[in-house]
Amino acid sequence: MESNPLEEHSLGLLPWFIAATQILGLAAVVMTGVWMGYYEGGFAWDGTSLEFNVHPLCMVIGMVFLYGDSILVYRVFRNESKTTVKILHAAIHLVALVATIVGLVAVFGFHSAQNIPDMYSLHSWCGLISIILFCIQWVVGLIFFLFPGVSYSLRACYRPLHVYFGLGLFILAIGTSLLGITEKLLFSIGSTYSKFAAEGVLANVLGLVLIGFGLTVGYVVTRSEWKWITSPEEEALSMHFKTLTERDSPDSPQGS
Ligand code: HEM
Repeated sequence: MESNPLEEHSLGLLPWFIAATQILGLAAVVMTGVWMGYYEGGFAWDGTSLEFNVHPLCMVIGMVFLYGDSILVYRVFRNESKTTVKILHAAIHLVALVATIVGLVAVFGFHSAQNIPDMYSLHSWCGLISIILFCIQWVVGLIFFLFPGVSYSLRACYRPLHVYFGLGLFILAIGTSLLGITEKLLFSIGSTYSKFAAEGVLANVLGLVLIGFGLTVGYVVTRSEWKWITSPEEEALSMHFKTLTERDSPDSPQGS
């Protein structure tokens, strides 16, 4: 089969875009670490503001960086088998979920130790919604795509929903982080924020880096030439699976 030179040229750009996502993602994690570790006094698990500091770092690592990376695996490991990549996708999501839970326990623990009311802000509402939907998406994805026995057509029906909600939740997580950044700045440097305090500038740049990460990941995963291509062997296997799972279905030609 002849290869399309335009397509090959565009595939050549993919590693550069992937590298850009990693630079932006890691920069966001490091900047959050510096903000909380240096400007906000460091980390501890003692109910003080140092425990709060665990929250932004874990959220940026889990809900943003690892979440984004788990979406990218289908573009990065294009030559691996689909099952391997699916397992990697689910595994990175699982690590992201663990980081997210640690971050959530930290902020709820801090609030309860300091008698601060829970769940009053737009940030916390968006945050909890995104975490609940993230858990649902993970469990439903696991059932549909990794458990044997779910029919081919059911998987095919669910796939667009999984992709849509996956990207939607990623955008929601970045938006939530932006709300959290502004809220934290108003709490901690409210009076000097308007004077371009170094901490404020760092956190604003962190917000821009998070947006840059989101846009770059979004571009990579939505560019049609970079989408996952099923190999002829896998195509044959999935057709075999389709035949097997739908042999007895009432709307299949063999089923009646
Ligand atoms: C997707 C990422 C994030 C999620 C899902 C999230 C989720 C949450 C949730 C559910 C709460 C409420 C805790 C409670 O009521 O006891 C909260 C609190 C808080 N978060 Fe985040 N957060 C995220 C990222 C961040 C980031 C990056 C910052 C930046 C510093 C931040 C700053 C805060 C602050 C200041 C609070 C306490 C005030 C409040 O309840 O709104 N969050 N977060």
